Amino acid sequence: MTSIDFDQYARDYASLIAEQTEAFDSDNDYFVRYKIDCLRSIAPHARSILDFGCGVGRSIPFLRAAYPQAEIIGSDPSAESLAFARKTNPKETFVPLNELGAETRYDVIFAACVFHHIAPEIRDETLAFCRERLAPGGRIVIFEHNPLNPVTQRLVNTCPFDADAVLLGKGETAARLKRAGLEIDKAGYCLFFPGALAALRPLERRLQWLPLGGQYFVSGKSPSA
Ligand SMILES: C[S@@+](CC[C@H](N)C(=O)[O-])C[C@H]1O[C@@H](n2cnc3c(N)ncnc32)[C@H](O)[C@@H]1O
Repeated sequence: MTSIDFDQYARDYASLIAEQTEAFDSDNDYFVRYKIDCLRSIAPHARSILDFGCGVGRSIPFLRAAYPQAEIIGSDPSAESLAFARKTNPKETFVPLNELGAETRYDVIFAACVFHHIAPEIRDETLAFCRERLAPGGRIVIFEHNPLNPVTQRLVNTCPFDADAVLLGKGETAARLKRAGLEIDKAGYCLFFPGALAALRPLERRLQWLPLGGQYFVSGKSPSA
């Protein structure tokens, strides 16, 4: 399967996402905010953060608000996405993926909806690449679509930039993080309730064990020095 060229989608990425997620919540920032809140509960303090596969930089303002003092770098293979990210986040730093050196070690590497675009046969080497850039005691935190959720499946099947998607379940993600030498310190399902059921959202944290959320997260921690 040919991989999607995200350069083609840079300009319309935000509106395509909004169309896709409208039925779940008309505030399409909800999903980004949700992930960053969850990230902060996993890693309350971080001096350096890599947004791996940052795309057009939608998470960056939320990462900045959550970690005001941190060094935050967004990286992506799509040059057009990075150009867009720089325009909308002029004070932040973006680095093309092929220029991301190993000299900086990050406390947090955050990857939101990236790994389903990476072919299964190169997922382990991609995680090894991330692992090499992780500080002692640092975390790689992956958010992914939950293949067990039929609504998620439908959204992925109809999304133009998901044509190359090979979804990975929570178990696969955890196993790959372990193979990269990390210990799973937190994992769970999330994004259960659409806007129409917003009153139930406070229950989300108690439902993380239930494999029905629209997405899931897995955090792998490297040993402290
Ligand atoms: C669905 S977008 C998600 C973008 C962003 N993380 C977000 O939440 O809005 C997937 C991103 O993964 C990037 N990507 C694809 N293959 C990648 C790889 N091997 N390494 C890092 N990023 C990759 C794409 O260029 C694209 O920007």
